[in-house]
Amino acid sequence: MKKKVFITQKLPGNIEALLTKHGFITYTFNKERSITKKELIKGAKDADALICLLSDKIDKEVIDNLNKCKIIANYAVGYNNIDVQYAKSKNIIVTNTPDVLTDATADVAVALILACARRFNEANKMMRQKKFKGWKPDLLLGYDIKDKTVGIIGAGRIGTEVASRMKAFKTNIIYYSRSRNIEIENVIGAKKVSLDYLLKNSDIISIHVPLTEKTYHLLNREKLRFLKENAIIVNTSRGEVIEEKFLIELLKKKKVFSAGFDVYENEPNINPELLKLDNVFLLPHIGSATVETRTKMAELVAKNVIAVLNGKNPLTPV
Ligand code: NAP
Ligand code: GLV
Ligand code: GLV
Repeated sequence: MKKKVFITQKLPGNIEALLTKHGFITYTFNKERSITKKELIKGAKDADALICLLSDKIDKEVIDNLNKCKIIANYAVGYNNIDVQYAKSKNIIVTNTPDVLTDATADVAVALILACARRFNEANKMMRQKKFKGWKPDLLLGYDIKDKTVGIIGAGRIGTEVASRMKAFKTNIIYYSRSRNIEIENVIGAKKVSLDYLLKNSDIISIHVPLTEKTYHLLNREKLRFLKENAIIVNTSRGEVIEEKFLIELLKKKKVFSAGFDVYENEPNINPELLKLDNVFLLPHIGSATVETRTKMAELVAKNVIAVLNGKNPLTPV
């Protein structure tokens, strides 16, 4: 009997054709909306492989209903949506999509930094509301990036690429991370510091830690109070790393300069207070959203599934 691959949403590219070529049968949940837990369990219960999105919560209940599954292949590098330990305890391999999305996501972090420093939210709003009355010496003054201190929280793949891009803007780079990163130190000249030092001394902060029990609300009320008054903070990792309501308070009181968000605490729900603020730039979780990157992610997901269902090692296990 042919092995079955269940895909929780149509992905860019045509991995169904690739999987079919390798002798598998695919079922794709093909609706505009996200799959519900009930639908996911129904579709995946007799599947040999599950391909899922970062918005699909693969918890104990779902895993307990995967009767034949050998691999859960996440279409994302972050895998906080999956109970990995529990999956492993059931001999299910979990894979993610590292590296192929690093540059695209780093580009978005830098775009948010520039958008915040140069007040693009207010500027774009002014144009759309037809309020631009001509060049003025004091129109929407932001601040220079050059010579500022950039703090990278989580110097992994994406954090390192953001540091490298920001170095080209002639900034000083410091970083806080679990392990020492020799590349970022030697090639980029970044210095490893404590989290408190980073928060107190950075003009620009970019967050790149994964969401784990240890990084949940890493930037809580106490830590956020360390931010400088001119600070720009940008988050392209996971919303839950910041205790969002306290950052919103600081933004409201202008105790920080600006914040750029690609991710939010309760996605896809957005705190309505955020929408009222001028000093934020908001994106709908599009860090990896380019045609090339999303296609490569889909290919990597398919390759992981093909390897595991053929009894080989996965390319990118977590
Ligand atoms: P990565 O290479 O694993 O980098 C994460 C870094 O964070 C690593 O250096 C890691 O340290 C460090 N870290 C882990 N736990 C930590 C802790 N408790 N305290 C301090 N540092 C810690 O991952 P990546 O590929 O750069 O991706 C990072 C995250 O970005 C993903 O997990 C995902 O959530 C997010 N992301 C978002 C988008 C988007 O669309 N916005 C796109 C891609 C990724 P070690 O070196 O010791 O492991
Ligand atoms: C996107 O957020 C990812 O983790 O790939
Ligand atoms: C601005 O447009 C300038 O020429 O300085």
